[in-house]
Amino acid sequence: MPADAGLPNAKLTDQQDPPQISAPVKVTLHQLFCMEATAAPCGIVIIGASGDLAHRKLLPGLYHLYKVKLLPKEFFILGAARSPGDDAGFRDQIEAAFKEKGETDGATLRGFLEHVYYRSVQYAQLGTLESPLKEFALKHATQGKLLFHIATPPEVYESAIASLSQAGLIGKGKNAAVIIEKPFGYDLDSARRLNRLLLANLDESQIYRIDHYLGKETVQNILMFRFANSIFEPVWNRRYIDHVQITAAESIGIEHRAGFYEKAGNLRDVFQNHMFQLLSTVAMEPPVVLDQDQYRNEKLKVIRSLRPIPAEKLNEMVVRGQYGSGAIDGTPVAAYRQEEGVNPASTTETFVAMKLFIDNWRWEGVPFYLRSGKRLARGVTEIAIQFKQVPHSMIPAFPADQFSPNVLTFRLQPQEGISLSFEAKQPGTKFCMTTLDMAFNYKDVFRKSSMEAYERLLLDAMQGDQTLFVREDMNDLSWAFMTTILKGWEQSPPGNFPNYAAGSWGPREAQALIEKDGRAWRK
Ligand SMILES: NC(=O)c1ccc[n+]([C@@H]2O[C@H](COP(=O)([O-])OP(=O)(O)OC[C@H]3O[C@@H](n4cnc5c(N)ncnc54)[C@H](OP(=O)(O)O)[C@@H]3O)[C@@H](O)[C@H]2O)c1
Repeated sequence: MPADAGLPNAKLTDQQDPPQISAPVKVTLHQLFCMEATAAPCGIVIIGASGDLAHRKLLPGLYHLYKVKLLPKEFFILGAARSPGDDAGFRDQIEAAFKEKGETDGATLRGFLEHVYYRSVQYAQLGTLESPLKEFALKHATQGKLLFHIATPPEVYESAIASLSQAGLIGKGKNAAVIIEKPFGYDLDSARRLNRLLLANLDESQIYRIDHYLGKETVQNILMFRFANSIFEPVWNRRYIDHVQITAAESIGIEHRAGFYEKAGNLRDVFQNHMFQLLSTVAMEPPVVLDQDQYRNEKLKVIRSLRPIPAEKLNEMVVRGQYGSGAIDGTPVAAYRQEEGVNPASTTETFVAMKLFIDNWRWEGVPFYLRSGKRLARGVTEIAIQFKQVPHSMIPAFPADQFSPNVLTFRLQPQEGISLSFEAKQPGTKFCMTTLDMAFNYKDVFRKSSMEAYERLLLDAMQGDQTLFVREDMNDLSWAFMTTILKGWEQSPPGNFPNYAAGSWGPREAQALIEKDGRAWRK
């Protein structure tokens, strides 16, 4: 076809019907690389068992593991918190909640509840659990192994650990481990203090710092996608990739968690942990062996290679925001400062965007744009790898920059999946280009629902596998990076909050952060 024949427009026009594409994914499931192990006998102690996390994630997660027979026969769960209660009341509460969520298998549920207990206890006196723990260990033949999941607000962590240690329930070399929730620290100093306390009482191999993003199927699949396929790794570098965008957008607000959020803010709540875990997973070098040390060593190197943000460039590289009133899906919502429990003059950030560079051979010069916020237009978490534009157009009527660059997207929510966009010619006599997606959704392809992040992580902790948990050095380095930003912000409190409307995509400055580089955030 001659280059000038009917080629006025490279983009989809109103006159063109959008192409009807039906592209089922052909799935070849094979057993070549399936690894699954059931957990060893174990007693699980949930400290803070009356709370939201215990009831919404931990107990349902453990129950599902029981249902699919991934828990050993020899296990028990002891819920501990200050709220008054007993075994029968706790079991009734769990049974009612699970039934309300649609559980109809009464026999299995009763079987599970026979392993569940509750004790009311002060967090500074966890030694009182010693005698019931001995009794349950004997009854359920758990061989003494204990896993303490500290699921309280962070202000309780230190006293809970100290009291477990004083009672001899945890200790170096003992058959006991501790899962500790995020936030792990408030800044570098507090994270180090907590680490010192943990490491005075436990070996690193007994400490499981949880970041539930690491338990998500897509996050694990990034690793497989990159290193179990040979076609992507050769282009996974500065020569072919223009930039990377990582978005963790929520349309919800703070959901009655003002007490926590006012002290934390977005940088501590999302960037220090989830965003840096995603960044390091997508940018890491291939580990020689996928074991817990090599995998975490490679991720650590990414954070170590981050170009520091000097004080004078803070506002150029990092944008903070707070939502004002607005509308989400047409429903009016209040400003952050009007939320219950929030200081009406609060300077807590509910949005952060930043531009980062990784100073190593692979990524030199490739910007990584990260953004996260509450009350944004849509709830979506994704990593988008944008490849470079074609260097030359063979069709003079289409300049090279009219072709949309290929984008590879890992979507964590909603609907976990992977897609790759590419340019294609639409059928017909006109020469019209359009951008298409090859998309894979977990839900559509695999009938088996993917395991909830918490289930996966609880199972790993029971198996003694720390691969998907945060190591001390990673937590430390991430906090060091964030603490520089936090200190810079302390020096110049924001004068323009609120600076974005609920239901928008964040402050104008966040658009400018990327647009001044001739790029745009994905919508
Ligand atoms: N909820 C989630 O989806 C989620 C997600 C990720 C991480 N996390 C983290 O997991 C931990 C627990 O979260 P959560 O939402 O379950 O918390 P929560 O419901 O506020 O607290 C859990 C339990 O801790 C006790 N507690 C609360 N405030 C306390 C205080 N000031 N002093 C002593 N005890 C207190 C309460 O039990 P008693 O009064 O009965 O003792 C409460 O039921 C937090 O560190 C949170 O950041 C939670």
